[in-house]
Amino acid sequence: MGIRVGIDLGTTFSAVARINQATGKPEIIKNIYGNPTTPSVLCFQPDGDILHGDDAKNMQGMGDTNTASFFKRSMGKLAVSFDILGKSYSPTDLSAILLKKLVQEAEAQSGESVDAAVITVPAYFTHIERAATKAAGAAAGIDVIAIINEPSAAAFAYGLNEKEGEQTVMIYDLGGGTFDVTIAQINKNNIQVLGCDGNHELGGKDWDDCIARYLAAQLYEEHGIEITDLAMVNTLLVAAEAAKKQLTARDRVTVPIHFKDIKTSVEISNEIFEEISHFLLGTTKDVTENLLASLGIGWHDLDGVILVGGSTRMRMIHKYVESMSGKPPLKGVNVDEAVALGAAIRANITSQGESIPSEQIGGFAVNQITIQGARAIIDATAHSLGLIAISEDGSCYTNSKIILRNSSIPAKATKPYGIRMKDKDTALEVYVLQGEHDRPLDNTIVHKYVVTGMKGPKHSEVVIEVTYGYTEDGIIEVSAMQQGTSKALDVDVQPIPDDMAWTDQPPSAGAKAGDISDLKIAVTSKSYDDIGAILRSMKLPYSNFRSIGYECDVLFINCGTSDRIDIKKLHDFVQNGGCVYISDFAADHLIGAFPGSMTYTKNGKSGRYKGTVMDPDLQSIVGKDINIYYDTIWVLVKKHKGDCMVVGKGGQYGGVPMMFSFQYGEGSVFFTSFHNHVQASEKEQMVLQAILLKQLGSFYDVGIHQIGKILGIDVDRIQNTLKS
Ligand SMILES: Nc1ncnc2c1ncn2[C@@H]1O[C@H](COP(=O)(O)OP(=O)(O)OP(=O)(O)O)[C@@H](O)[C@H]1O
Ligand SMILES: [Mg+2]
Repeated sequence: MGIRVGIDLGTTFSAVARINQATGKPEIIKNIYGNPTTPSVLCFQPDGDILHGDDAKNMQGMGDTNTASFFKRSMGKLAVSFDILGKSYSPTDLSAILLKKLVQEAEAQSGESVDAAVITVPAYFTHIERAATKAAGAAAGIDVIAIINEPSAAAFAYGLNEKEGEQTVMIYDLGGGTFDVTIAQINKNNIQVLGCDGNHELGGKDWDDCIARYLAAQLYEEHGIEITDLAMVNTLLVAAEAAKKQLTARDRVTVPIHFKDIKTSVEISNEIFEEISHFLLGTTKDVTENLLASLGIGWHDLDGVILVGGSTRMRMIHKYVESMSGKPPLKGVNVDEAVALGAAIRANITSQGESIPSEQIGGFAVNQITIQGARAIIDATAHSLGLIAISEDGSCYTNSKIILRNSSIPAKATKPYGIRMKDKDTALEVYVLQGEHDRPLDNTIVHKYVVTGMKGPKHSEVVIEVTYGYTEDGIIEVSAMQQGTSKALDVDVQPIPDDMAWTDQPPSAGAKAGDISDLKIAVTSKSYDDIGAILRSMKLPYSNFRSIGYECDVLFINCGTSDRIDIKKLHDFVQNGGCVYISDFAADHLIGAFPGSMTYTKNGKSGRYKGTVMDPDLQSIVGKDINIYYDTIWVLVKKHKGDCMVVGKGGQYGGVPMMFSFQYGEGSVFFTSFHNHVQASEKEQMVLQAILLKQLGSFYDVGIHQIGKILGIDVDRIQNTLKS
């Protein structure tokens, strides 16, 4: 049986650690050169051999272009590949090769076989980047126990010192390619992460690039030397990194530059270095200050700052941390080793911080050893998790957050979402977003799930409660339930489409047009054609109620129809999601279909009446006062009055709703004077069109202009004609 190791898979340097059997303390397994860390560099040889670590980095320094480095920066990015000697490698492939080499070397150096490992990632890594890291471990043949955050691992290593009481610390981790800042509370029993933030495209490499650019400019200015090929760039980068490290110990250095047949040198001072890289320090400052502010913590609340990562050796970082916190960084943590050491601790305890029974771990056969630094860790999410939803005002798609960033892991949260039923195949598409931005495409789209199995009458709105879970392993779990039921809905994974540009379009345009063109309208017959004329003028196809009966979505019942309307069937039709428009006289006869409603008073006189438009939307189109023809019978809906969409109020009845709708069961009922009477003028027809648009629109949750667009009706023309 072998050992369990911790692997710090770094952008520039990696390290492997194990637990010392005698002391219970973690220790680094040094590489064959006796170094605690190994460059994360690969060099592909024409004979198929692959060099790694110092050997590969040396080849890179000598200008060999068949090398790969910094692949951690593109982890999980499907579009990125490294083409070397005619073969294409993804960042995951390269990480897998490196991990395998690291484990093989660790086995050779320790004389033990490696059974399993904990691999670390920047806290700021998204789900996709974590999954890619885990996949790389599996491809390397490693049993990956857990993927944990680098700063959390460093906190384990720091906690080794068994400090008394509880401390609030900042873990400031600036490595070769990533920057992470974490605030945690550490006590004897656990490490509670309060929050983290970062930038995974910021690290020592960016400071190297600054120096390299400076060197290139000086070479040209002082010696007229131009950088013309990749080999020269590589040489310059290696020289830049060496200079940067020397500047940690010295005020100024002379950088020797050796190209093929050129040998020269350039001077650089710490002052110049700080000047040319000032903007990078500024970026780390912004991230740090933002995190403190979002947690409501000030520098003075911190017991200290733990520096992790090789780049924290730079003078400017020390100066910054010391000036802000008012004290020197905490001691006792080796910036290069802390992450791997902490990972080794975590590899040999349970997630609750208990030692794993010795028989389960090779190498500890005799006695249960106490693993030093063992604690439970309560980590926090670095990013919010949400889904693509329509914004509250309906104008755009947005990121509706379910689990907020900096929630303790494991995290779980539920949020309700309304969806209108189309048919039995109605589905809710859940695009899982990771990130803080409102615009969906500014976040990482992690998964697409499709939720099905909800039940409800056609066109009714059902509420789906979507639950997100975030496990200790960084796995996102999605489940859903229809409100008012206790049965979980079906949730299936689907590939994320390549084209997500629709998320930048206004929501209703595409989807709702489909809904409405599917709409089946029936109209009852009548001695004179009224509603039909309006529907035709709006290019809305309709059928005769006599031929299709209740097999429709919307039913118009004209006054004076000779069709027999069965009260019970009408009641069931609406209860089950149908929408019915009932005109004045008919209402008197049909009110019985909707218990709880009652007819108001009957005028009995036809004529033109003045009314006041109550609905603000409609008012903006047709004006405040309307003069409209109707055969009047007013209907009051006592029970449903509160939910009524009151379109207008008739003058002579002083405050009686003139046209209104209400929800009945799953459906909607509109009482309206919609008919296009022979006597109605063009303007009156337009008013009726606008009312119908408003009512149809409310049925589909879209505004008048939007539904006008879908039906091809020029609402602006109506507006302008009515205003003139
Ligand atoms: N003395 C020094 N002065 C300045 N920078 C240094 C010094 N020693 C190492 N570095 C820089 O530290 C970086 C490597 O740090 P580290 O090994 O912590 O990073 P990593 O683990 O590879 O990266 P990451 O954690 O971002 O994935 C390199 O950019 C290196 O140049
Ligand atoms: Mg690191």
